[in-house]
Parts: sequence; structure tokens; C-alpha cells
Amino acid sequence: MASGAKMQEEKRKPNSERGGVVVLDFGGQYTQLIARRVREQQVFSAVLPCTSTIAEIRRYEPSGLILSGGPSSAYDADAPTCDHAVLAMGVPVLGICYGMHWIARTLGGKVEKAGRREYGSALLNLANGGAAGYGESELFAGLPKSVRIWNSHGDHVVALPVGFHATGHTENAVAATEDPVRKIYAVEFHPEVKHTDQGTEILRNFLFRVCKAEPKWSGAAFIEETTEAIRKKAGTGRVICALSGGVDSTVAAVLVHRAIGERLTNIFVNTGLLRKNEFEDTLEMLRDRLGLVVIGVDASDRFLKHLAGITDPERKRKIIGNEFISVFAEQALALQHGEAHGEIEYLVQGTLYPDVIESVSVKGPSATIKSHHNVGGLPENMPFGLIEPLRDLFKDEVRRIGRELGLPAEILLKHPFPGPGLAVRLLGEITHEHLVTLREADAVVVEEIRRAGLYDKVWQAFAVLLPVRSVGVMGDGRTYGLTVAVRVVESEDAMTADWVRLPGEVLERISTRIVNEVPGVTRVVYDISSKPPSTIEWE
Ligand code: XMP
Repeated sequence: MASGAKMQEEKRKPNSERGGVVVLDFGGQYTQLIARRVREQQVFSAVLPCTSTIAEIRRYEPSGLILSGGPSSAYDADAPTCDHAVLAMGVPVLGICYGMHWIARTLGGKVEKAGRREYGSALLNLANGGAAGYGESELFAGLPKSVRIWNSHGDHVVALPVGFHATGHTENAVAATEDPVRKIYAVEFHPEVKHTDQGTEILRNFLFRVCKAEPKWSGAAFIEETTEAIRKKAGTGRVICALSGGVDSTVAAVLVHRAIGERLTNIFVNTGLLRKNEFEDTLEMLRDRLGLVVIGVDASDRFLKHLAGITDPERKRKIIGNEFISVFAEQALALQHGEAHGEIEYLVQGTLYPDVIESVSVKGPSATIKSHHNVGGLPENMPFGLIEPLRDLFKDEVRRIGRELGLPAEILLKHPFPGPGLAVRLLGEITHEHLVTLREADAVVVEEIRRAGLYDKVWQAFAVLLPVRSVGVMGDGRTYGLTVAVRVVESEDAMTADWVRLPGEVLERISTRIVNEVPGVTRVVYDISSKPPSTIEWE
């Protein structure tokens, strides 16, 4: 009996994750944002597809459910739906936009196409509340009579289900409704977006007044619980990890190291496509400053040999991906057959929550399921189990955890760097000579951006080498050299990006220094394209 109870306990979610909020995803563009806003209040949140079973939802022992927005109309024949029992779990529910329409229809109300589509800013008037009257809704406690909100929908609820009353209107429609007895709340607008004034207050009211959630999801709790869980999972076995030098794999490795110490062996591969001094500097930091056990593998020659003569960007990426897998697998298996004597049981990956959600969530009514791309693109048939300690975290949360773990700022604030490295920043064929040129030019760009105090303010700053020759004049001689494009962008999540309006003096220093200090370059241009339609990287 005792051991059965113990197993039950082990299957439960960690303490700080219990009593959080489950967000059921109808494919809305803001679903991830809802989850983040909840976590900002130190309440754990998990996004599950709307098709999840009640048992799957209950595993989270949630104190509340949020039904997301979505692109469909609730009256469409193929509109996404949840198990109706989510409305009778004895857990408060908040429907947002499509979530509201789904609740209304499911409980016997009526949803119709609106005469006028509501998109953008509108005024929510709480004074027109129904039976409960203004100010009596727990959801809007403490709010002023009217609030600026953000809408994005083309349907309206035209008849409320029995037991519901309206608690807010816009000039066009019922914008908020509730059944306080069953604790079912619904809003047609988006409290999770910044354009809704008091959106945070509305979510806080739902979490703390309605759901009585406890704000216990914190970095410290995450670190403690995760360390303990890794220790249990790894048992007495050994674990390996592929480090990239970036923040995700480093934080993952440090967490695992904290749990099992030197039974974790890390592998860091020099593809020959890293930036100036990056292999040596990163190895030194990982080993000396973070105390990790790291095997540094210099495989540059192999990579460059396979890339010889290749100019097509997709082929470059494929070759690099395959070669990386070969090198890593060789190292892992050598360790397994040699020093570790078959004891390696797990592989650590720095998979983040957005990757996990992407691979399971319903994207629109067609329920497209994207296959999960794991971090290093490692083969799935490796004879190891997976440890993915960051599976529950967003990128900024990983940085916060990294800070709490004492990682140096240079790792935490490091600009993203693509897996294929300089190969996608060196257009045309990759040669040793051109790599040297690009590394030197890139070092100048980063140095000057740092000197101008801009490194931590921009998303990425780097050089691209173009195989385009142009005429120059240096001293008394005519030159005919290569072109360097400088790319500096700002972005929130790399989905969209804008080029940074750098001060003229900074551009001037970058340009002068590159042409003077980097042999073979006669011209520097600044990339003024945004994403979309361009991408951040050039290949
Ligand atoms: P793009 O060029 O698509 O890049 O606008 C968006 C962000 O992703 C990074 N990037 C990659 N990261 N492997 C990676 O790990 C890759 O193959 C890759 N390609 C692009 C890029 O640096 C930018 O931050």
C-alpha cells in the first residue's frame, strides 16, 4: 500500500505546478500569451489542446481553466470543441473570445455573426451589468466603470444561457457574461494583451478572487523541484548533453549538473563555423566558471570538407545537421563503450515550452500537428531516454532561472546564434579564407555595438560576408575586394524584426574599422530590411 501511495505521489506534478491554471487551446494567436500572463502572477499554467480528456486536465490538479480564443466561429460545423464536462469539473472557468462563444453555445445560448466585426480598441462599459449590477462581478472587482479593451472577433453572443447575466457591454455587444453560481466567466475581448487596460487586474481577479490560486510558481521552487526530479529520474545512471554555448542548453546542463554532478558529461562540438574565439572561450567558461565536465571536440575539418563546393543554403543546413549528429553520436557511443561502460541512460535537451506547445496544440480547426523538432536535431533512435528540464519554461523564464543559478551575464544575455553558425552568414561557398574574413568583420561589429552600449538592447548584431567584389582605393592602389553587410535587428521573439536605426557615428566606426582592419574587404553596407518580408539571417 505504502509503495502504491508513493508511486501515486511520484506521478503527481511538482508542488508548485499543482493548483495552477490549465489553458485549453482552440488555436488562438494569443494562447501562449495567456499562459505567460498567468505565470507572471506566479501561478503555474499549462497549455493543453482543446481535445484533451478530463483525466489529462485533472493531472494538473488545476484551480482554474481558461478557454482560449481561436480563429473559428462557434457555429461552424467543424468548429473545435472541448469535452463539455470541462464546464462541470467543479473548477472555475474563464472563456476568452472564442472560448466565450463556445461556452455560450454549449450551455444553450446563441452565437451569431456580428453585423460589424469588432477589431481593435473598444470601450467596455461595466455600468450596464445585469442582475449582479456594476462592480459586483468578482472578475471586475476594483475596476473603473469603463475600461479600454482589445477586441478581435466577428461573432457575438445574442442569447445568454440560462443562469448567465451580462456584466459588461461594448456599444455593439455583450462583452462579458457570467454564471457566478457555477463560477463560469466569459469575456469577448482579450485581457491578456497589453492594449486592454486593466487586463492584468482582470486576470488577477480570476486567479486570486475566483480560483483562489496561490502564487507559488517561482524560480527557486522550479530549481528545487526540477533538481529533485532529475535526481530521481537519472537514478545511478550517467547522462550526456550536447552544449551549443547558448543559454538554453547551458541552463539545462547546469540544472542536471546540480542534480547529479559529474555523472553528467557534456559534449561541445567545434563545427568550424563558430565566431572568433568562440570555441575556446565557451569551453573555458563551461569548464572553469560553471564547473561542468565538457568534452570539446574539434571537428572543423570534417565540417569544412563536407561543405566544400556547396552554395545552396538548404544543402548547407542539411550537411551541417547530419554531420553534427554523426559527431555527437560517435562521441556518445565512444563514451558508452569506453569510460562509461554502458551506463549512459539519458540525454539532456534544452527543449523549451513553445516547442512543446507547437507540437501538440490545435492550430485552427484543421488540428495540424507539427512534429517536434528537438534541439540539436539528434536522432530519435539513440539508445538514451530524454531529460528535458526546460520543457515547462518560456525563454525569458529560462533566463531568469539561469540568473538564479548564478550563470554569468555573458551567457544569459548572449545574442541568439543559428545552429548552422557562420555557414548561413557566409554566402556562396564556405572556405577557410572567407571564414577568417567573416570572423574578423563580425568581431568588429559586436565590439562596436557593445562599445555603444547597445548589445543588451538589440536582438542580434552580426556581419554577413557577400561574395560580391567591388572596386576600392587604398593608399595609392586600386583594390577589388569583398562586401560585408552589417545586420542589427530588434525583435521580441524573432517572429518579426525591425532593423535598428543605429547612430551615424556607430555605423561610421564599424565601416571604417572593417575596411581598415579586415584584409580583403573593400565595402560595408547596412541591411535595412525588416522581417517580414526578409528574414533575420541571410540564408
Ligand atoms: P530567421 O533568419 O528565420 O531567424 O529570421 C530567426 C531566428 O532564428 C535563428 N536561426 C536559427 N537558430 N538554427 C537555430 O538554432 C537554425 O538553423 C536557425 N536559423 C535561424 C536566427 O539567428 C534568428 O534569431
